[in-house]
Amino acid sequence: MIFRQMLDAASGTYSYLLASRRGGEALIIDPVLEKVDRYVQILNELDLRLVKAIDTHLHADHITGLGALRERTQCITVMGEQSKADVVSMRVNDGDRIDIEGLRLGVIYTPGHTDDSYSFSMEDRVFTGDTLLIRGTGRTDFQNGDPRAQYESIFNRLLKLPDQTLVYPAHDYKGETVSTIGEEKAYNPRLRVQSVEQYVELMTNLKLPNPKMMDVAVPANGKIGLSQGEVARRGWAVTTGEFAHAIGQSGTAIVDIREITEQEEQGTVPETLHVPYAALADTLRPGGVLHQTGIAKKLIFICTFGERSAIAVQLAQAVGLDQARHLHGGLAEWRARTQVHQEPSVNSSLVW
Ligand SMILES: [Fe+2]
Repeated sequence: MIFRQMLDAASGTYSYLLASRRGGEALIIDPVLEKVDRYVQILNELDLRLVKAIDTHLHADHITGLGALRERTQCITVMGEQSKADVVSMRVNDGDRIDIEGLRLGVIYTPGHTDDSYSFSMEDRVFTGDTLLIRGTGRTDFQNGDPRAQYESIFNRLLKLPDQTLVYPAHDYKGETVSTIGEEKAYNPRLRVQSVEQYVELMTNLKLPNPKMMDVAVPANGKIGLSQGEVARRGWAVTTGEFAHAIGQSGTAIVDIREITEQEEQGTVPETLHVPYAALADTLRPGGVLHQTGIAKKLIFICTFGERSAIAVQLAQAVGLDQARHLHGGLAEWRARTQVHQEPSVNSSLVW
């Protein structure tokens, strides 16, 4: 496995680059905007293709690199269901998994530092964001923080992992790089409490100053922006009304680019092709299956929020498929507009 822990010294943030092999797919956790050039350089040097960029939570001390990495690499941007950041193109929930080639992260909802805080686990390690730090825990006094929720997240979720599990946090200000669950149980001073009440008291009396970047970073990270406006201006988007009309038309092929896990959770639109986002570049090349379909029919790409499909339609247009369109706002918008809502099911094809 390729594993890089990269420091942004200005904010004390750790970002993590992971891949199963040279020449393969990669993901990055908690990238920092100012370091994006460096990440792209490492990706090139190791011949890696960035397919997912993940933030553990909406950060208050630095501006996320998610938007810039999406622009540079067309990667999928991932955050938790609760996040208010608009740059997110795939949302995950407790118990989900995040897959790339040869690698899988388990998704653990660990609120408390913020209400959108997640941890991500692998067999031997866990990325704890600002929930559990090395000999510390993330503050709980802003961004809907909640010491009671954090106690639950730490004591009933993270500390239940095997003692030898490596702990990789989103920050460290003393130069520590890694710990283990066992070490934190034994030596983390914040965890030497006898009850949730004691923990709440400890956390509410910290009286920490606000992070230097907070007034800038929180609003900036909430509004990185979707890439759909320009696509719509070029006339490459369809509205939910136009989409409804296009379903079932013989001259149209609807291409669902969500992952299987999203389809299972959210339901599917009948009679669609499924081409996962990661496979688009290959299948859209002249001679590729989707390219052939796109010559014969009008392609309409769909995804959850319309962000990945906005990139897909640009790829299709770039190879000359000028009929190609995407559903603006994605299936989330479609569902909101049509109000046709059924419980998702693994086994059946459902209209949202
Ligand atoms: Fe944080």
